[in-house]
Amino acid sequence: MKIKFQNLSKQYEPEHVILNPMDFEDEVHTLAVIGPSGGGKSTLLRIIGGLIAPTTGKLWVDSDEIRQNEASLQQYRKTIGFVFQQGGLFRHMSALDNIAVPLEQVHGYSRTKSRSRALELLERFGLKEDAGKKPAALSGGQQQRVAIARAVAAQPKLLLLDEPTSALDPEYTTEVLNVIRELKEEGMRFIIVTHEMGFARHACDKAAFLCEGSLLEYGESAQLFAHPETEQLQRFLGKLLEWNV
Ligand SMILES: Nc1ncnc2c1ncn2[C@@H]1O[C@H](COP(=O)(O)OP(=O)(O)OP(=O)(O)O)[C@@H](O)[C@H]1O
Ligand SMILES: [Mg+2]
Repeated sequence: MKIKFQNLSKQYEPEHVILNPMDFEDEVHTLAVIGPSGGGKSTLLRIIGGLIAPTTGKLWVDSDEIRQNEASLQQYRKTIGFVFQQGGLFRHMSALDNIAVPLEQVHGYSRTKSRSRALELLERFGLKEDAGKKPAALSGGQQQRVAIARAVAAQPKLLLLDEPTSALDPEYTTEVLNVIRELKEEGMRFIIVTHEMGFARHACDKAAFLCEGSLLEYGESAQLFAHPETEQLQRFLGKLLEWNV
């Protein structure tokens, strides 16, 4: 899927630039966005998802320009799946309803169809036994798998994941990353903001390094990790290695 930006930037206040004007164009299958905290990763992902508007510039996803008016954005958001750091599940609803209710209310599925789709996904993600449980009764890893199931339920053309595993214990991190890798194998296109460098390096085709609001490096993941060109990326990767065992 082609993703393109032209002169895309974001600032909230006149002196506070969050994203410097950036241009980008490539065919994206699986892309990892990495970089230091506060660098603008979540902001960029939210702009791509049509959740916030850029201050300047234009954006195309799948060759369609994302127009910044509410009616177009509402249509556009229906074609995108989102997963955030802490799933954002509805606390008062069962796992099943968390998936089925948006299918009915946002995507116009019938009750029968939405429930059968939700059950199919729960089964596929190893959560069949948990269909009736509310989020509080699920582990963090299970909650994130429900969140991913919900995000892919309506077959979005692009899945956006913002640090989906950063609030999880290591064992749950692996199970969630495995689910994402399986989605990749089925052809799902995604952009993931992650601090899981092994996943970014080995499971994502491309990687982008965002630092202090600028897209400093972009390319094949394997190449970017093996041969970081900028001092900033060298330093960033060096810091991560410090505690590697
Ligand atoms: N709504 C907002 N209003 C003002 N400033 C904001 C807003 N949202 C984000 N920022 C600022 O934008 C900068 C980039 O934030 P962003 O959340 O995109 O970074 P990030 O790379 O995702 O960081 P992290 O790795 O910690 O999640 C930060 O300085 C943040 O304080
Ligand atoms: Mg962030």
